[in-house]
Order: sequence, then C-alpha cells, then structure tokens
Amino acid sequence: MPFTLPKLAYEYTALEPFIDSQTMQIHHTKHHQTYVDKLNEAIAKHPELANNKVEELLADNLKIIPDDIKTAVRNHGGGHLNHSFFWELLAKDKPISDNLKKIIEKQFESFDKFKEEFSNAALTRFGSGWVWLVLTKDKKLKIYSTANQDSPLMQGDKPLLGLDVWEHSYYIKWTSNRKGYVENWWNVVNWEQVEKSYNSK
Ligand SMILES: [Fe+2]
Repeated sequence: MPFTLPKLAYEYTALEPFIDSQTMQIHHTKHHQTYVDKLNEAIAKHPELANNKVEELLADNLKIIPDDIKTAVRNHGGGHLNHSFFWELLAKDKPISDNLKKIIEKQFESFDKFKEEFSNAALTRFGSGWVWLVLTKDKKLKIYSTANQDSPLMQGDKPLLGLDVWEHSYYIKWTSNRKGYVENWWNVVNWEQVEKSYNSK
C-alpha cells in the first residue's frame, strides 16, 4: 500500500496538559489511520496514481484524479496530508523567532492581532474543518478556514500553520468548549516548524 501512518516524533503524553494523551492517541491511531486506509482503498482502484505524493494528488483541485474517486481522495487524501502536517506543528518550547514575529507583525499589525484573527477563524468555522495561516502565490500571509479536510494546497497556497477544529480533535477533554481547546493549543505551536515551512521553496 502506498500510504502509511507516519510515526510521531514525540510521545502521546508530550503535549500534556495542553493536549491530552488520550485525544492524541485516538486522533493518531484511529482517525488518521482511517484517512490513510480509505485513501489507499481509493487509489487501489487506479494503480497508475500509486506513485504520486499526496500533495500531487490534491494539486490544482485534484485535476489528475478520476471522477469516481475524486471525493474519496479529496476527503481522505486531504485528511492524511493535513494530519501529517498537524503532528509536526505540535511541540512544547518552540517559541517564535524575532524574525518570523516581525514578518507576521508586518502583515497583521501585531502578533496579538494575528492570534486574535486566527482564533476567531477557529471559533467561527461552522462544522468540521481547519484553520490556516498560509503563504499565497503572491507571497502574502493570509488566515482562512477550510471545510472538512480541504487543504490550502488544492488552491495553490502553502500552509504554514494549521489547526484541526474537527470535534474529534478536542471533544474528549473539552466537550463543546472549542475555545478552551484553541486557547491551550497556542502553548504547543512549534514555531520552528512554521518558520521552516515559510522558508521552504
Ligand atoms: Fe483530526
């Protein structure tokens, strides 16, 4: 099978108390695994696609994907890509550098305003989805949310920071309190990883 569940670089307990280990374990071994399995099921129907990276499958609004598996690849390919990206963005004690902070401040007036706008997008996303900080094709930083498992890569934007706001990412600990989840998540943003993405081609 072409796609596999990536191993995490840390223990499920590593993000406590901000993100609880039970949520991490279920989110990784159940939810993410299901996206991987269902993506593989879809691709098995078109083995000519098996050597593509998931980014290539989703590019240009899934241009290369045949109609009969388009929805499955959009949902499960997106789920696999987004979660693989999300795990790498979580760490304790990876504060933002002065350099990246200045870049964000230039676009959003202040770092606090950036956080406020991002959090607000997370709290107002109706239903399941993600919130993103992206670098657009014309090199602007932008915050927006997507529904379900849609990735900014589908429209050619480069994700730098992403937050999963599906209920499965917080309901065990926070039940309906998405605000508590978002506020705590800020403590485990791996800003080194964000900067790495910003500087990547
Ligand atoms: Fe998730």
